[in-house]
Amino acid sequence: MRFMPNPTTPTPSALAHAAAALRAGELVGLPTETVYGLAALGLDADAVARIYAAKDRPSFNPLILHTTQSLSALHDSGIIDLQACTPRGRAACQALADALWPGPLTLVLPRGAAVPDLTTAGLDTVAIRQPRHPVAHALIELVGAPLAAPSANRSGRISPTTATAVLTELGDRVAMVLDGGPCALGLESSVVHVDPDGEVTLLRPGLIGTSTLSETLGRRVHHGTDAASRPRSPGTGSRHYSPKTPIFQLPSRISELDPERLDLLRQHCAPFSRVAVLTWNQTDAASAQDAALVEQITATAIDAEGRLSPTAQGLYATLRALDESPADLLLVEPIPPVGLAQTGLGFAIADRLSRATVPWSAAP
Ligand code: TXA
Ligand code: MG
Repeated sequence: MRFMPNPTTPTPSALAHAAAALRAGELVGLPTETVYGLAALGLDADAVARIYAAKDRPSFNPLILHTTQSLSALHDSGIIDLQACTPRGRAACQALADALWPGPLTLVLPRGAAVPDLTTAGLDTVAIRQPRHPVAHALIELVGAPLAAPSANRSGRISPTTATAVLTELGDRVAMVLDGGPCALGLESSVVHVDPDGEVTLLRPGLIGTSTLSETLGRRVHHGTDAASRPRSPGTGSRHYSPKTPIFQLPSRISELDPERLDLLRQHCAPFSRVAVLTWNQTDAASAQDAALVEQITATAIDAEGRLSPTAQGLYATLRALDESPADLLLVEPIPPVGLAQTGLGFAIADRLSRATVPWSAAP
């Protein structure tokens, strides 16, 4: 246990201090445009081991290397192995990197000899991302080596989107947390597997969805779950991103439940004293409040108008706030509604919520 640090403003001297801590094998909380990362030297097995220990992360769940280098520079430094790819495979990863880096895209590529087993959890692939956030970019450049950085939460918990949330999760386990403000995107990067022959599969949905990937490559890209023999992403298990308070996802908005189901829901809520409902917009929040499931009910819309980007940006902070609120039961309406959940960002929000919650139909 160490002394709890405060968020640090990323001045040039703070960045130099963070770079020195990283070079000494320590952990640093790092802002990126998606969520905050828990950074360490990604090619140093001892430093990487500290990440797994700090997060209580199972060692079968590999890490993403954050870099500012191009694919060919990564190949030259033995981080990826482009030689393992056919020309079609090389063209696919180059097209994705050219169009979408720096940004919220992680590419899973054949691994080079310089990457320790622990970073990739022994897989023969390695996950790589060029972040867009200026603080992440500056720190990687200062250190001069790729940084492994999983989301800076305890394993299975909600990813942090502010420096304060990193301190709540891991404050006693990091040398410092650089404060880059609230993350602009609020959801983790899209994880995309490019196999040596150039077959491309979306393993973890994010802002960049299958339609952007398909447009970039000029051919249809599928979700990992659609493919018959899909490459697996070990960290996308069904329960993840979870608050500590019991949290259930409703099959529809409260205003759309028939009287029988509404009554069942009332019975389900009865043992709890304070229920908080998360809704898609302000109108739904008002209807949820009116349903008066229990005496003490609060309803929150992440964005008053239910727009996708602000909803993504505020999702984790809102879940975190509800978890810390006096509510002893959390209910989530379908967010976003079914139609919008088919688009890139809507799909990603719905994906995270389905992992954060238990379906109400499964409630005891
Ligand atoms: O936006 C993000 O990606 C954030 C920021 C900090 O960059 N990082 C992040 O890392 O979300 P993490 O460790 O929480 O999630 C990484 C995901 C996990 O689901 C992991 O299983 C998957 O990427 N992954 C990593 N390496 C992989 C590989 N070689 N093959 C398949 N999946 C991999
Ligand atoms: Mg994570």
